[in-house]
Amino acid sequence: MNRILIGACFAIALSVGGAAQAAAPAANAAWASPSSAADQNRNASSPDEALFVEKCGMCHRERGMGTVILARRTGADVALLEKRKDLSADLIRVYVRTGAGNMPRIGRGEVSDTQLAAITRHLVRSTP
Ligand code: HEC
Repeated sequence: MNRILIGACFAIALSVGGAAQAAAPAANAAWASPSSAADQNRNASSPDEALFVEKCGMCHRERGMGTVILARRTGADVALLEKRKDLSADLIRVYVRTGAGNMPRIGRGEVSDTQLAAITRHLVRSTP
């Protein structure tokens, strides 16, 4: 059930993203590219960032479901986690380990504590 809901939300998020793109193509960098989510920016300049891209990027980079949902709630300018200045290690851990709203919980089998520490380092560092 949960998976079906997540799938449905993802589909909605994608169509909302498409609509926003059509309406205001240059309004925000997160929406600006005419490309599809399939060729989302997956570049990384550090191992910590590469891990973020691998484990979180499909939802938390441009046009990802997390970015789309957070844009609606917090505003497009702070929807990308890597641009946030208010993320703490505690908040990141709670979201990842327990999940919340449309974010699934991610267990240690998928992202180990060591990997989560690296991802947290990247997010806290990229948000000075
Ligand atoms: C399947 C998609 C998905 C994946 C994978 C995912 N997230 Fe999320 N994340 C979301 C969604 C959707 C939200 C918004 C949750 C809500 O509905 O409130 C979110 C919210 C968050 C928030 C809270 C931001 C805020 O302002 O409240 C943090 C922090 C976060 N995610 C971190 C991560 C990290 C770190 C990873 C990788 C280990 C990750 N997420 C992987 C979908 C995802």
